[in-house]
Amino acid sequence: MAKLTEPLTFNRGLTLKNRVLMAPMTTKMSFFDGVVTQDEVDYYSMRAGEIGAVITGAANVQEDGKGWEGELGVYDDKFIPGLSKLAAGIKRNGTKAILQIFHGGRMTSSQILRGVQPVSASAVAAERPAAETPREIESEEVAALINNFAAAAKRAISAGFDGVELHGANTYLIQQFFSPHSNRREDEWGGSLDKRYHFIEELVKAVTTAVDESGADNFIVGYRFSPEEYETPGIRFEDTLYLVDHLADLSLDYLHVSLNQADKVSASQDYQEKSMMAYIKDKIAGRVPLIGVGDIRTGQDAEEILSMADGVAIGKALLMDPNWLPKVVNGQEKLIRHELSRFDCEELRISNGVWAFLEQMMPERLY
Ligand SMILES: Cc1cc2nc3c(=O)[nH]c(=O)nc-3n(C[C@H](O)[C@H](O)[C@H](O)COP(=O)(O)O)c2cc1C
Repeated sequence: MAKLTEPLTFNRGLTLKNRVLMAPMTTKMSFFDGVVTQDEVDYYSMRAGEIGAVITGAANVQEDGKGWEGELGVYDDKFIPGLSKLAAGIKRNGTKAILQIFHGGRMTSSQILRGVQPVSASAVAAERPAAETPREIESEEVAALINNFAAAAKRAISAGFDGVELHGANTYLIQQFFSPHSNRREDEWGGSLDKRYHFIEELVKAVTTAVDESGADNFIVGYRFSPEEYETPGIRFEDTLYLVDHLADLSLDYLHVSLNQADKVSASQDYQEKSMMAYIKDKIAGRVPLIGVGDIRTGQDAEEILSMADGVAIGKALLMDPNWLPKVVNGQEKLIRHELSRFDCEELRISNGVWAFLEQMMPERLY
């Protein structure tokens, strides 16, 4: 277990006491208006303490960026007191607290937005049942959007977090600017791969500059991305290697690939000799740490990922067993809980919203 328990230091100076991070997982537990609840603080706190860092579920940086009910908000200073309680609850026994910040873009509805039409890079609906056609963001609105991400990072600093993760994955707005499916613009923010990347570059520069100018000590900025889309047109693995190559030269502290299966191979014929994570690691070539993820259940699974990445993010395994890491490190893997019953949810602070999500994702592990 040497590597799993080794510290990991980022460019801006923050050190994690080991290489295990809790993957960002929305709790669906915030109040209707995005304010942190005590149940949510307790949920994160019981999973902190042993692992290196907790990355929170997505928090929206603009009111029209809300993707679902029970989501964290970070679009106004009114959230800072609740977020402070959340950061303090996570920072137990040296675990670091990272706030994931995002905008849902077209992956929401006017019902969630209380009558407001969702926005996106272009007026193209997502390919999912009942998806609404979003309103195209005006070019004059782009600067405000970028500023709102920077403002959210500053609120995370005020609330005592150790970092933010820009959620550029899982089809939300940042990814929508990069995707040829959702971005059909012909202004400076779309039209070619370079121009679809332009928004991401400006966003990362604005957020990292805001963090560096704030004078916050050791506060880190990470970036999460999804390597492929199934839509046509859509993001292909080659586009992702372009993205990673460019992001690795920016002032980021880590890149975090979003995968449901860590060893997933690309759908693209040109990249099938090894896993996407291995290609990504090669492309980065040591410029910035990479965090891997995807159905890690055992210590051995985690160790295998560390041959392709510098840190491992663990989602459902920590959801089901908050003591996953001490059990792995102390040779008690047999005691790890791999299945969940409805009756465990109260003790584990798993909300009905998350349970419903798990019923779709892993019905075979629920009873
Ligand atoms: C209940 C739940 C909520 C999730 N919410 C988020 C989220 O807010 N942001 C995000 O980037 N990924 C989210 N994910 C994806 C996870 O971060 C992770 O990539 C995925 O679950 C695969 O890792 P695992 O197999 O260890 O769970 C969520 C996953 C689950 C199960």
